[in-house]
Amino acid sequence: MDHAAIHDLGRHVGETVTLAGWLYNKRSSGKIHFLIVRDGTGLCQCVMGRKDVTPEEFELGDHLTQESAIRVTGTVRAEPRAPGGYEMGVSKLELVAEAAPDYPITHKEHGVEFLMDNRHLWMRTPRQVAILRIRHTIVESIRTFLNDRGFTLVDPPILTPSAAEGTTNLFETDYFGEKAYLSQSGQLYMEAAAMALGKVYSFGPTFRAEKSKTRRHLIEFWMCEPEMAYWNQDDNMRLQEGLVSHVVQTVLARHQAELKELGRDTSLLEKVTAPFPRVTYDEALKLIQEREGRDIPWGEDFGAPDETTIASAFDRPVFVTHYPVQAKAFYMKPDPKRPEVVLCDDLLAPEGYGEIIGGSQRQDDLDLLEQRIKQHKLPEQAYGWYLDLRRYGSVPHSGFGIGLERTVAWICGLDHVRETIPFARLLNRIYP
Ligand code: 4AD
Ligand code: MG
Repeated sequence: MDHAAIHDLGRHVGETVTLAGWLYNKRSSGKIHFLIVRDGTGLCQCVMGRKDVTPEEFELGDHLTQESAIRVTGTVRAEPRAPGGYEMGVSKLELVAEAAPDYPITHKEHGVEFLMDNRHLWMRTPRQVAILRIRHTIVESIRTFLNDRGFTLVDPPILTPSAAEGTTNLFETDYFGEKAYLSQSGQLYMEAAAMALGKVYSFGPTFRAEKSKTRRHLIEFWMCEPEMAYWNQDDNMRLQEGLVSHVVQTVLARHQAELKELGRDTSLLEKVTAPFPRVTYDEALKLIQEREGRDIPWGEDFGAPDETTIASAFDRPVFVTHYPVQAKAFYMKPDPKRPEVVLCDDLLAPEGYGEIIGGSQRQDDLDLLEQRIKQHKLPEQAYGWYLDLRRYGSVPHSGFGIGLERTVAWICGLDHVRETIPFARLLNRIYP
């Protein structure tokens, strides 16, 4: 590798360096070509005067097609008006591979379906690069936060014999003559791992055959799932608010340029510091009744508009706790003081981004857990191993799952999760 990265050009002012990249855009005035080069780290305006290069190179600069792969050599200088703040005075231009002249993504507006069909190329644009870089930092900061607190990464299986989050949205596949499902959540396996290692987390893809076509739902999404032995629900929520604040503050510290590229109002993110407000399900019902004049029957889950109403009462993420037993999963522990509700939380992001975390204290009593598995009509034989965790040294324990794509959508201020993942799997899309 003999080239400089565009984001490092500030360290090379006055030097002659080579950039290795692709032609993003160009203008020409006859005597001068302005080649805008991208290399994955940024954009650089490369100024090519007729007298500075050979006639062949100048001719090449004139006919270069968008996205042609090129190496450009020249002197770096500061130029406040240029994108990135630096430009290059070109002394040499080399063609690595000419792009066909019909590159689909031009500098005009395109429809979303067209862009999604061309996702493999759309990824190259500065906005998409900014999102993927922030996604990377979010992943990295979640892992660092947990690693620094003594957590161990444990990888649960993706092919599973049973459901973790209900049977309605399972992806079924054939496992040598038996039915198997793509994992909806690694949680049950993380509970086993917590009994072995204490504090653990998983970070991987999960699958839900959700027939919902909303701006928050992906068929394949990534989730980080911490699980902690001997932690109660209050300990659990403190970890969640600490984690989310850390992630937001890390992105703010590292990605001002990317957030600007996305047009994100960062003042709203700056307020995201722990502790977060908490409301119970019952208080949330009242809030919706006051703000919308709508009565939701007790026991029903909230829809996306309800979540937006609740969240808009606060300037930072808000925990909704103590949901009715019937609205939540079989493994959650009822509140000993009020057994009709469970010790759980949904963390709702501000600005209408909805639920980014679902967490709970787990049912640790063998008999009560068995009852719930029967009530939910789950195939009991598939949960034998899970019940063993309550047979052999059951302890209070808690955990949660944070959805990566919804977190990216919120922090980046995107109106749909399809841009938060490199190749989105949606109800109507599995290409490219
Ligand atoms: O609330 P959920 O379903 O919780 C669980 O799966 C628990 N087993 C987690 C745990 O306690 N270990 O999902 C957790 C989070 C949601 O808050 C949301 O952020 C994300 O996963 N999520 C989705 N993201 C994108 N598309 C979907 N279809 C999603 N479904 C859930
Ligand atoms: Mg949930």
